[in-house]
Amino acid sequence: PTEETLVLVKPDGVARGLTGAILARIEAKGYALVDIRLVEPDREVLEKHYEEHAGKPFYEPLLEFMQSGPSVAIRLAGNRVIEGFRSLAGTTDPTTAAPGTIRGDFGRDWGLAVQQNLVHGSDSPESAARELEIWFG
Ligand code: CMP
Repeated sequence: PTEETLVLVKPDGVARGLTGAILARIEAKGYALVDIRLVEPDREVLEKHYEEHAGKPFYEPLLEFMQSGPSVAIRLAGNRVIEGFRSLAGTTDPTTAAPGTIRGDFGRDWGLAVQQNLVHGSDSPESAARELEIWFG
């Protein structure tokens, strides 16, 4: 079924000039860009977005990292796009993410307190609805 998901090109992806390469993969896969914008989220937005991670050891470094520069927020649509984008992105840890995925091809461990893994994609229809509301209102 046609659905929508929130994709973020995180600050590391934007800073490294990988936005175009990442968008090219999303477009080549055939998903539709419904809305896209450059954002500098404040802490409140990030606290809502990452509420499930509050209290974890990487939580504060994560919020700091996400405020280190702009991200690109994308409302992306297509049949099974939630699952499909997560497959394009690869697993959370960029060191072991499969080659051929965004994280596997462009990411690595930089020895920091937080995994800088280039992109975010909603993990369920419920998360997608919640996160799209946070980032696009
Ligand atoms: P994402 O899955 O989009 O949302 C949570 C983020 O926290 C994740 O991307 C990584 O950037 C980061 N993260 C998740 N797990 C860890 C971990 N074990 N150590 C450091 N950072 C993590």
